[in-house]
Amino acid sequence: MKVHILPLEHIGPYIADQVTHTASAKPEALIAWTTGNTPLRTGIYRELIAREQANGLDLSSCWFVNPDEQIGIPRAHEESYYTYMKRHFFDHIRHSEDRRFIPDGAAADAAAECERMEQFIEDHGGIDYQLVGIGINGHICFIEPAASLPARCFVTDIADVNRRLYAPLFGGKLEDVPETAITFGWGTVMKSRRISLVAVGKDKAEIVARALLGPITTELPATLLQLHPNAEIVLDEAAAALY
Ligand code: GLP
Repeated sequence: MKVHILPLEHIGPYIADQVTHTASAKPEALIAWTTGNTPLRTGIYRELIAREQANGLDLSSCWFVNPDEQIGIPRAHEESYYTYMKRHFFDHIRHSEDRRFIPDGAAADAAAECERMEQFIEDHGGIDYQLVGIGINGHICFIEPAASLPARCFVTDIADVNRRLYAPLFGGKLEDVPETAITFGWGTVMKSRRISLVAVGKDKAEIVARALLGPITTELPATLLQLHPNAEIVLDEAAAALY
């Protein structure tokens, strides 16, 4: 696993370079995105939008997938990942919605929605490049620590530590934070041809060190990336402090 420690302001351009290489090598590449604060703090989507608007990056024939969504909130909800992706990225680039898949957290049958996501990935030749963040408890996507991890997309409980973290986004009311989510399975992640995990800030330093150096365990899902043949970790100085 390659580890890159970069100044915070270089991370957006660095990841945009990876996306640019992916899309120019294979215009119909399937790219998996991530949500959370990390892409915003590092300016990843801002940089991609700037390049696309300056005609330096053509994403129009790529396929996109988002790995997770909270169950029980409609797509139009302020805090849905669907809304996040539109607001921070999709609304600003030339890309048609029928070339994307974001699981629907309000789907009547969440298990069937998981299967639709696996099918979308299979239909478009597998994921060429996946951008991921890491949760404070070592989750990737919404693959929370557990004794075993499903291989395929699945419905999961959201860990309490994360629900408490998201409470301010839901008016401070824990009971309003979704309890479950649709997420990639561990096999879905591991089959991605290339993965960049990005983490920034001192709050991530401890979990990053455990993910990179610790024993491989499903109780800390990010440790499994140590087994991926083509995963890289991109950190700022603060997140790398204990590594
Ligand atoms: C969120 C998402 C993940 C994200 C992670 C880290 O809940 N489910 O896809 O990567 O947690 O988020 P942040 O960047 O805000 O720390």
